[in-house]
Amino acid sequence: MCRFLWSLFRQNIYFVIGVVLGLGLSLLLTPVVDNDCFFSVHFNNEESRILTSHKDDDYEPRINLAGKPQKAQKTPQTLIRPRYFSTELGIKDKLFIGILTKADTLVEYAVALNKTVAHLVDKIMYFIDAPSAQRLNVSSLRLPGIVGFTDTREILKPFHVLKYIIDNFLEEFDFFFIVKDTTYIRARELYSFVKKVSVSQDVHLGSPAVGQSEFCSLDGGILLSNSVLRKIQSTLDWCVKSAFSDSDSDNIGRCVLHATKIPCQQNIQGQSFYSFHLGNTQITTDNKYLLKDPTFEKAVTYYPIREPSAFYKLHLYLCKVAMMHKKMDIANLRHSLLNMSHFVPGGKKSVSWPVGNQPGNKPSNRFDVLRWDYFTEMHIYLANDFTNIKILSGAEKSDVQYVLNKSISFMEDKYEGQIQYRRLVNGYRKFDPSRGMDYILDLVFRDMTSGKEVHKRIELCKPLGKVELLPMPYVTENTRVNLILPVDASNRKDTVTFIQQYTKVCMEKKDKTFLMLVFFYDPHAPGKGKSDDIFKDIKDTAISLSNRFHKDGNKIAWVSIKVPSASSQYTMVHESLLDFAAADLAVKKLPLESLVLICRTNMEIRQDYLNRVRMNTILQWQVFSPIPFTEMNPSVVYNYELPQPSELDINKNYGHFDPLNSRHISFYAKDYWKARKSMESIIPIVRNDKDILNFIKNQEANITNFALHTVYSMFVRMSNLHVLRGIEPGLRLRYEEKSCQYPETVSGHIAAGIYHSCIASQAFSLGSRSQLAKLILEYQSASSVS
Ligand SMILES: *[C@@H]1O[C@H](CO)[C@@H](O)[C@H](O)[C@H]1NC(C)=O
Ligand SMILES: *[C@@H]1O[C@H](CO)[C@@H](O)[C@H](O)[C@H]1NC(C)=O
Ligand SMILES: *[C@@H]1O[C@H](CO)[C@@H](O)[C@H](O)[C@H]1NC(C)=O
Ligand SMILES: *[C@@H]1O[C@H](CO)[C@@H](O)[C@H](O)[C@H]1NC(C)=O
Repeated sequence: MCRFLWSLFRQNIYFVIGVVLGLGLSLLLTPVVDNDCFFSVHFNNEESRILTSHKDDDYEPRINLAGKPQKAQKTPQTLIRPRYFSTELGIKDKLFIGILTKADTLVEYAVALNKTVAHLVDKIMYFIDAPSAQRLNVSSLRLPGIVGFTDTREILKPFHVLKYIIDNFLEEFDFFFIVKDTTYIRARELYSFVKKVSVSQDVHLGSPAVGQSEFCSLDGGILLSNSVLRKIQSTLDWCVKSAFSDSDSDNIGRCVLHATKIPCQQNIQGQSFYSFHLGNTQITTDNKYLLKDPTFEKAVTYYPIREPSAFYKLHLYLCKVAMMHKKMDIANLRHSLLNMSHFVPGGKKSVSWPVGNQPGNKPSNRFDVLRWDYFTEMHIYLANDFTNIKILSGAEKSDVQYVLNKSISFMEDKYEGQIQYRRLVNGYRKFDPSRGMDYILDLVFRDMTSGKEVHKRIELCKPLGKVELLPMPYVTENTRVNLILPVDASNRKDTVTFIQQYTKVCMEKKDKTFLMLVFFYDPHAPGKGKSDDIFKDIKDTAISLSNRFHKDGNKIAWVSIKVPSASSQYTMVHESLLDFAAADLAVKKLPLESLVLICRTNMEIRQDYLNRVRMNTILQWQVFSPIPFTEMNPSVVYNYELPQPSELDINKNYGHFDPLNSRHISFYAKDYWKARKSMESIIPIVRNDKDILNFIKNQEANITNFALHTVYSMFVRMSNLHVLRGIEPGLRLRYEEKSCQYPETVSGHIAAGIYHSCIASQAFSLGSRSQLAKLILEYQSASSVS
């Protein structure tokens, strides 16, 4: 029974709204009670008397200290800003269209209007009386908004519409256009018309009604601004009482005029609004006859439409006309641009090629000249500072192929098959960040008629695409960052420095953080809980700091892990995967929605880095792996002229951004587990110390495993999250001595991979090229002297 009632209600939702509105309006229609006396004014004679008696006193200023200082009566309120600036600034959508429709026209006319208008404006709604709506079963029509009014008096329908709009949409739109359903609307023109009208202007606009130049014709459509509707709001009952005319146009016009004192205008802010009266004209797809009328093409609305198909015919015809105009505009623009590029005083080309694209970067001095890379079909030469020649592969190869294919087909078309492609001689490409990729290709063709080889040079440009804004989830700088710091016996000293910095930057400043130390114990070192625990002093510091700052919720905790002793079972490969052990055991202790940041003892802690981590890490969306600025070998870089600074500055003489280092990463615990579980079969999850030995079950570990050997590569390969990687000036690392041992005991790609990446990062962190060159020169001159 209940369900039946509910479905009945749902089917007739507009009907119900109509009933409610009808009731509301009928209240309006009851005679308004005499309301002369809502407020009474009461003069307080007591007070005025006291004031005057003061005047008579001998005036002697006295300071009244009783009960002072007083507290402020009201504490100043904090301004609560809305989430969107459009709310705060009152920015609205532009155009609402209200269509007055009837039982006999709804099904065909309103649907035709919907098809020719609805997708071009912000909102469209149809208004009908409720009994017809029910009879026609409007819910089966799939029209975006039909409102049925229970009050069936035709004469009052426009006012029901006005009231409905005022009650529901006043805050959402700048302009309201009300029209009958027998009118075709050129929605694009109407929209661009209202876009040019200032929202601060009162607008009552349309084409004059027959015989009443002060009122607008409802057949042609009436445009009202938000401000005008606000004024009508308070006079709606007057309007209803004064609606005596047979013509809806007159009734509405009188109402607007009464509320705003503005008669119907046809021109506003330099624009004119025209409606075209079709009379008895038959609409055909060429409309030759209509074109002769000069107002036909200027009009925004056309009425009366006598048959539904006329909507579509008119629409088709007007769209064709509009398209013709656009094509002519484009042709004219092209023409004028070409003229400009040819006839410029001084003969210089002022227009860039391709027309309409960015002209590209003009170097201000010789250091800014962008580089052209030379390529052939197989190789690219001197693509960066570190390589001489590189085999073209992957995306670069298909890019070259694509450009080549394009040039060949262009030339073959141009010479109408008279030439045949032979080979590529030279290729050059240049990337300009302000423009895109430019290419120059020297191609050899065979001339089919003479049989000789001809050389052709071709210039191509691949312009940058349009910038796109990607909507991203909301993040705040108020999230707690959980730092995980792996510590082993060799970096105990750095850890002390780290904790000191952490205290200063995070704990004392009450930044929302939590530090989790992960201690790696050597198999023979005195273990957990022993009195000669090698990490005892660090643990003591952690406890005392936690006690000192526990009120702010900032804490230091730790996890201890005993590493197995080196053997054929525990190798350097296992060791290289210890980050997983640290993360598995530490993240397990945190709730799923924690933001986790893996840190290293040689980093400098900075507030701006932590904030960037908060902004760049997004739950179930993005993980963040910063490229750190890394100090180079101090014994190479620093000397008496350039002493080691106490804080690492970003300067090419001290260090470099190290793209090989992907060991700093932040993520949400939930995302970590999801990715981690999906690679459990390759590297099992560590639940206790002994699981470390299981890291690689298969000693014939292969290159696939190497590709997964860091937490970073796990996210890249095993999750569908976006991995944000970029240089991060807030993350600065002190130089760290690395010893790279060639793997003798273990074989396999993974060990070799670890070794080679270790060597590479060591080599790139030695010093800048000029510093190293200087050392070599010094060495050579010293050895030649001796
Ligand atoms: C009316 O227009 C809207 C928006 O373009 C569309 O979603 C809807 O399907 C249309 N309805 C009909 C009956 O054409
Ligand atoms: C109204 O249309 C709906 C959906 O097409 C249909 O299920 C329902 O039976 C119709 N009702 C009447 C009274 O025609
Ligand atoms: C270029 O053309 C060759 C031969 O027609 C074709 O095999 C290749 O797929 C094309 N490459 C691209 C990137 O279009
Ligand atoms: C390499 O690793 C993949 C992924 O774990 C595995 O499927 C494959 O069997 C391994 N190959 C060898 C030779 O171990």
